[in-house]
Amino acid sequence: MHRTPGWLMSAFDRTIRPLLWDPEQILRGYVAPGDTVADIGCGAGYYAPALSKFAGPSGRLFLVDVQEDMLKRSTRRLRRASDATAQAVPVLAGDDRFDLSDELDFALMSWMLHEVERPALLWENVGEHLRPAGKALVIEPWVHVRRRRFEEEVAPARELGFATAEIDDILFCHACVATRMV
Ligand SMILES: C[S@@+](CC[C@H](N)C(=O)[O-])C[C@H]1O[C@@H](n2cnc3c(N)ncnc32)[C@H](O)[C@@H]1O
Repeated sequence: MHRTPGWLMSAFDRTIRPLLWDPEQILRGYVAPGDTVADIGCGAGYYAPALSKFAGPSGRLFLVDVQEDMLKRSTRRLRRASDATAQAVPVLAGDDRFDLSDELDFALMSWMLHEVERPALLWENVGEHLRPAGKALVIEPWVHVRRRRFEEEVAPARELGFATAEIDDILFCHACVATRMV
């Protein structure tokens, strides 16, 4: 399976991305002070400072990735952001699994599901960690993921009992919120 290298993600995050996508604007309203949140497939940590800022000093942020290099990059990025105050916990994931020591209020899965070989297994794993009524925000870029593929990526969530609602205001991206109902 293709894995985006860290250097490429960091370069993109420094240059083009801030022109098009504001992490705070995209994430506003999903995370409250004191929440436990996860950035699943965190990459170089483009969204990590915003997640950490919203969760605040009494919150917790799990940085989850299959690449150790990405955990280093996202941790470094958090250290540089003065208002990223949540406790940060890097977690090295296996191909189909990650284990967290706490229940999640919110999970972000940005631009990562198309790199996952078995999305159904990942959704199972997300369902095990999210609290009832907890939410996962999935974002996928049009440039890599066709509409049909996006629907296939999200279908397992519905089969597992998540309620899904499409979001249509993230530029050049498919997006949906999946809420754990059971
Ligand atoms: C294109 S990058 C996106 C990074 C970040 N979410 C963002 O929006 O900037 C995809 C990331 O997902 C990670 N990834 C791929 N498969 C994964 C899995 N099964 N579990 C956790 N992370 C995974 C990759 O290592 C890579 O860092």
